[in-house]
Amino acid sequence: MSTYPKTAALMRRGADFLGSETAILCGAMSWVSERNLVSAISNAGGFGVIACGAMTPELLDSEIAATSALATAPFGVNLITMHPQLFDLIEVCTRHGVGHVVLAGGIPPKGSVEAIKAGGAKVICFAPTLALAKKLLRSGADALVIEGMEAGGHIGPVSTSVLAQEMLPELAEEHLVFVAGGIGRGEAIAGYLEMGACGVQLGTRFACATESIAHPDFKKAFFRANARDAVASVQVDPRLPVIPVRALRNKGTEHFTSKQREVAGSLDREEVAMAEAQLQIEHYWAGALRRAVIDGDVENGSLMAGQSVGMVKAEEPVAEIIAQLMAESEAALTRR
Ligand SMILES: Cc1cc2nc3c(=O)[nH]c(=O)nc-3n(C[C@H](O)[C@H](O)[C@H](O)COP(=O)(O)O)c2cc1C
Repeated sequence: MSTYPKTAALMRRGADFLGSETAILCGAMSWVSERNLVSAISNAGGFGVIACGAMTPELLDSEIAATSALATAPFGVNLITMHPQLFDLIEVCTRHGVGHVVLAGGIPPKGSVEAIKAGGAKVICFAPTLALAKKLLRSGADALVIEGMEAGGHIGPVSTSVLAQEMLPELAEEHLVFVAGGIGRGEAIAGYLEMGACGVQLGTRFACATESIAHPDFKKAFFRANARDAVASVQVDPRLPVIPVRALRNKGTEHFTSKQREVAGSLDREEVAMAEAQLQIEHYWAGALRRAVIDGDVENGSLMAGQSVGMVKAEEPVAEIIAQLMAESEAALTRR
């Protein structure tokens, strides 16, 4: 990308690794990151990633085939480590010659990194701490994503700026590290690149692109929202674990809090066993993202969104978003 020479130079390692023009990944978003958005991102010089989520191997097979038919540049596949058919999904990726597999949702189970690499693909893992980052690299991860709590979807407890300061000085010279969480403009990209990141991953900024199949009401909710509307779910009772999810506040998020109180009350009165109570909490959000993204139920569905949602104001084609991010980054680097 000779139009953005300073940014391109800092992104070179990441772009070479991905086989893309820019080292801007669009992080996998369940229900959103399907053939249309993924191919649009890759065709516009970014790197799209299919969100496999809870898909069966058969569904993933047809989604990869359909994306390949639309894409003229490489794309990746995001697999959730606790999927019961993880190894079958890896086999599907291998069969299609997918070049990059992102493992999300926890520590990769034994043999999974090896299985992906044996099929010829590169492995990208999420690293929540420096110690785990080093362990993942020793176990064969080819690149890491560090994602702060500003991000949309499932989040950890630490902010992107702190993770970047903790990890980049230690890792970025010798390893490929992409930074994610809270990135809405190119100036922030320039900052992380200067700190040593080889690229960045964005989700929220791309969720409402013209090419995204998200329901118009889902998109409208994003355009109206401010940073402070994207809140992390809160655990009410220590006995009932909740993995924090950042999403726009709505009736569903309020009801989730009262649901936790209700289940905790049932536990106190010994009306329900612990395992059953925990399952009720775990299952509460099942299908909720689909309800919001596909059906447009913005009241009761899950409007997963990061704090950068306040910078998403209108539907824009992916190519324009990428060009804008690159131009902002370039301007910032040129001013220095
Ligand atoms: C609607 C939505 C759904 C998401 N679903 C997933 C997912 O299925 N798997 C995953 O690894 N990350 C998921 N994420 C996280 C994104 O891949 C990405 O890392 C994150 O959005 C980056 O932070 P940002 O939202 O601040 O740009 C999701 C994010 C959003 C906004």
